[in-house]
Amino acid sequence: MASQWGLFLPPARPSLSELSVLEKILLGQKQKKPDLKVATLGSTPEYRDLCQTYQINYKCLDYNKDNFLTLRNYLLHKDKDDNLLLSDWREMNFEETFDVFMGDLATTVTLVKDHDIIYQNIKKHCNSKALFLLKVVLREDNDIRAHKEIFSKYRKELFYLNPFAAVWREVLLADYDFTEDTMYCPVSLKKLKESFEQSIITEYEFGEYKKRWDALGDFKMNIPLRQNFLGKLSKYFEIQDIASGNDWYKEHAPIIVSSIE
Ligand SMILES: C[S@@+](CC[C@H](N)C(=O)[O-])C[C@H]1O[C@@H](n2cnc3c(N)ncnc32)[C@H](O)[C@@H]1O
Repeated sequence: MASQWGLFLPPARPSLSELSVLEKILLGQKQKKPDLKVATLGSTPEYRDLCQTYQINYKCLDYNKDNFLTLRNYLLHKDKDDNLLLSDWREMNFEETFDVFMGDLATTVTLVKDHDIIYQNIKKHCNSKALFLLKVVLREDNDIRAHKEIFSKYRKELFYLNPFAAVWREVLLADYDFTEDTMYCPVSLKKLKESFEQSIITEYEFGEYKKRWDALGDFKMNIPLRQNFLGKLSKYFEIQDIASGNDWYKEHAPIIVSSIE
C-alpha cells in the first residue's frame, strides 16, 4: 500500500477538507503549547506535511520502517529518520509522551479485538490535556447491500467520482464478516470478479477495485457499528466532538476528537 499510496483516494486517505479540520485543531493546540508534540498512528504523508508546514514536532508511530521511508516520497517537505518512532501500537514500549495522537483509519486497519489495547497504550503515552484525533469509517446497521444496488447508486448519484472513492465503504460492507467484524480484500476481490463476470459491474468499475485490492493483498479492514465503536472508545477517552471534513461521505467518516479524562 505504501509504495502505491498515489492509487488511494479519500476516504481511504485524508481529504483536503479533513486536513483543514485537523489544521485548525493543531494550530489551536500549538497556540496553547508552542512545543506541542504530536504522534501520528502510521506514516500518513498528509499528516507529516501538515505538521511540517507549521513546524510542529511529530513522530510517526509505525512498526514498519520501509513504509515510513517509502511514504516519504509523497511528502512536499521531506522529513528525517528520527521522525520515526518504530513501534507496534499494540505494544508501545517507549518512554516518550505526546500532546496529540492522530490517526487516519488507524483502527480500520487493526483488528477490532486489538482496539482496547491500542487505546490503553495511547492513553499511557498522553501528556495532561492530550487530544486523540481519529478518522474512522463506521456502519449504522448490519444490513447487507448487494453489488447491484451499490453500483446502480454509484451510476445514478456518484458517477462523477471514481468508483473506488465513491462506494468504497459500501463495497467493504458487501461481503463483510459480521462475526469477526472485518472485511478481507481477497474475498472482496473474488466477489467483485463474480459480479463483473455476471455483468453486474462494468470492466472499469471492477478494474478500479482490482488494482487497489491487488496492491493491498492479504489485508483486512473493519467498519465497526457506530454505537459499539464510540462505546469502546469512551471507556478510555472523553469524546469532545464528532467532527468531519466536508466530503460526500462525511456522515460515515467522522473525525472523533477525544481527550484523556
Ligand atoms: C495507519 S495505516 C492506514 C492508512 C493510513 N492512512 C496510513 O498512515 O498509512 C497504515 C500504516 O500503519 C502502520 N501500521 C499498521 N498497523 C500497525 C501497528 N499495529 N503498529 C504500528 N504501525 C502499524 C503500517 O505499517 C502503515 O505504514
